[in-house]
Amino acid sequence: MNVEKIREEFFPVTKTTTFLDIANHSPPCVPVQEAIRGYLLDWDKLDRRGDARTEEAVASWAKLVGATPEEACSQPNTSSGLTTVAEALRFEEGDNVVVNDLENPANLYPWIAQRPRGVEVRVVRGRGGAVQLDDLGKAVDDKTKAVAISHVEWLTGARHDVRAMAEIAHEHGAYLVVDGIQAAGALKVDVKRSGVDFYACGGYKWLVGCSGAGFLYVRGELIPEIEPVQFGYRSVEEHDIERPRLKNSAKKYELGEPSYLSTVGTIAAIKMLLDLGPPAIEARVLKLSQRFYDGLEHLGITIVSPKEKSMRSGVVSFSTRDPDATFKLLKEKGFYLSLRPAGIRVAIDFYNTEEEIERLLSVLARE
Ligand SMILES: Cc1ncc(COP(=O)(O)O)c(C=O)c1O
Repeated sequence: MNVEKIREEFFPVTKTTTFLDIANHSPPCVPVQEAIRGYLLDWDKLDRRGDARTEEAVASWAKLVGATPEEACSQPNTSSGLTTVAEALRFEEGDNVVVNDLENPANLYPWIAQRPRGVEVRVVRGRGGAVQLDDLGKAVDDKTKAVAISHVEWLTGARHDVRAMAEIAHEHGAYLVVDGIQAAGALKVDVKRSGVDFYACGGYKWLVGCSGAGFLYVRGELIPEIEPVQFGYRSVEEHDIERPRLKNSAKKYELGEPSYLSTVGTIAAIKMLLDLGPPAIEARVLKLSQRFYDGLEHLGITIVSPKEKSMRSGVVSFSTRDPDATFKLLKEKGFYLSLRPAGIRVAIDFYNTEEEIERLLSVLARE
């Protein structure tokens, strides 16, 4: 991977700042800018073909995460993907869902909203920055309908073993529902190999795309039995007032017109990721984040992210005696990162460099 060329040609943000904040929002890269500009400028000339573009975006995301295009659909964001799933599950009185206290609220409210349906929301406490498999195993029982988990946790960057978690859920006849927004694009995702049932993700973080374009994977075998509570004209095979027939694919979970601007931008972003190659991207992200983790450890700084290498992702968080002051100092020195309740969050992607990581560590060394 020619990182200097990628930075020069695709990522203008790298010229003005040390950008380490994609866990918050993707920087607008050149392919995305050009795709959106082109779409707007060609508005009067072209057959706009928004539907075809939505299909293209969904198919390219499906390819990135190892799904078939029929198992994927467009959603405005992660929250709507997760809510679509939570609403569609058929709960019986006394059923429970298992969440955890490390989740982003986006993966809690879709489940909390099911309480009026008689659903118990069980909260597993994270340990060491992650949800531990044995803790999850103790919380799941035969009344569990769904286990909701982030592939990568937003604050600690813990990368969960979703394959092992899917096994725990399936042993009890429950579904594993994954929030993938902090993983997809940076780490290799293979929804088939991992055996997860649902995988939702927005386009505006590691996919390097846009807000307003998100995706949902539903495991093929489940599509006939998981009926959406809400449906719209995009969900149906044929318009029929008396007997609307839903599509025989994940497209039945779509409603109306998505944001085409976000869609065309996100197509360009995913194309860039597929061209660069998910294995190469993951290898680079993990190499840089491990270097940063080791550097923090060497400096004796309190690390919020889990110690296990298998749990490493693009996110490494740490804390200092005065995180506000450290954050302010780093900002003044041109580092673009996030201050979150758990500490300072550094989000490292493929366009970052070894030099940027060393420079960040050297500022922290003088702290
Ligand atoms: C893990 C996680 N899930 C979901 C979201 C938000 O999802 P969306 O805005 O796509 O609904 C975030 C945003 O920070 C997040 O970190």
